[in-house]
Amino acid sequence: MANRIFLLAAALLAMSCSHGVTASDPSHLQDFCVADKTSQVRVNGLACKDAKDVVVEDFCYSGLHLAGNTTNKQGSIVTPVNVAQIGGLNTLGVSLVRIDYAPNGLNPPHTHPRSTEILTVLEGSLQVGFVTSNPENKHFNKVLGKGDVFVFPKGLVHYQFNNGATDAVAIAALSSQNPGVITMANAVFGSTPSIADGILTKAFQVENNVVDWMQGQF
Ligand SMILES: *[C@@H]1O[C@H](CO)[C@@H](O)[C@H](O)[C@H]1NC(C)=O
Repeated sequence: MANRIFLLAAALLAMSCSHGVTASDPSHLQDFCVADKTSQVRVNGLACKDAKDVVVEDFCYSGLHLAGNTTNKQGSIVTPVNVAQIGGLNTLGVSLVRIDYAPNGLNPPHTHPRSTEILTVLEGSLQVGFVTSNPENKHFNKVLGKGDVFVFPKGLVHYQFNNGATDAVAIAALSSQNPGVITMANAVFGSTPSIADGILTKAFQVENNVVDWMQGQF
């Protein structure tokens, strides 16, 4: 009996370890599991469409050659191509985005809780960086030109800034069908309902009026 429990524990440990090492999203167990967006079934990801109803359009998206509209406060715009746009990405652990930046445009500090990102500059110049976890909080940063590729490791806070005089364009691949985005400033100062002033004044070591002003930006 004790032997069996030990074997079970060892098997579970092996499964969880190998899963953690080899995949971001859960590994798929069939050729595809195209998202059935009408299904009421709640699973981790999306339920599969009946394979006989799957069509080539389930694996296709058009329009990524079109520039996004960067007329906004940050001067940048992300065009996502994840499982929401391509149902066929369900369970496959990958997606991508196009990012457009006006001169001085910023993709502000944010993290993807479920994915590593690998970014390629197609046009222009970008100042990029990421910061490692506590306690080091080491800042890795670099200026990229056309054709340069940069990696933002999973979960780490990162940003891109167009430091050039012309528009910049990047394509980034992400290791999740649904990477998620947490923009630091929005999460901390723009949450609904707000985080209490006393918590933010202590966290940032500033006065109430500074917190109120920051919250007013969102
Ligand atoms: C871009 O967005 C701005 C602000 O929302 C809007 O005024 C403008 O018409 C848009 N431009 C295009 C080409 O859609």
